[in-house]
Amino acid sequence: MRKIVLSLGMCAALIAFNACKSKEKPVASTTPVTTTTPAPSLLSVAEKKFPGITQADLDEGQKIFTGECRKCHGEKKIATRDETKWKEIMDRMAPKAKLDDKQKEKVLRYVLSQRALEVGS
Ligand code: HEC
Repeated sequence: MRKIVLSLGMCAALIAFNACKSKEKPVASTTPVTTTTPAPSLLSVAEKKFPGITQADLDEGQKIFTGECRKCHGEKKIATRDETKWKEIMDRMAPKAKLDDKQKEKVLRYVLSQRALEVGS
């Protein structure tokens, strides 16, 4: 609103000099610059860590993590455990959840990607 008033004012001033050509005004100077970058997606973070990973892999990992992995206990916090710890945990928990190697790897990749997204690295 203030900008409109301002530009009207400018216009009025310029009319006096017969130079008001509002259509030729550069748009950029009146458009606020957006500095916020969109949050990275889980997939974009995952792809950096695991080239070739797909959304379907992440979805399956997440499904097991929020399904099978919650059968004996609540959903465990991801960010509070580091990568080495998660690898150890998966070695211990995969047999408990009766996961095959592929499933185990998908859960681990989902967890480590989610972790990277949460902690930002
Ligand atoms: C058959 C039951 C069972 C299933 C299924 C199971 N867990 Fe566990 N989980 C446990 C028990 C019991 C403990 C506590 C004892 C221990 O740490 O070994 C535990 C502990 C944990 C811990 C804490 C370990 C630590 O040292 O901080 C994490 C994290 C965890 N589970 C993740 C998972 C994940 C991920 C899955 C799925 C792949 C899973 N669990 C599936 C029984 C299970």
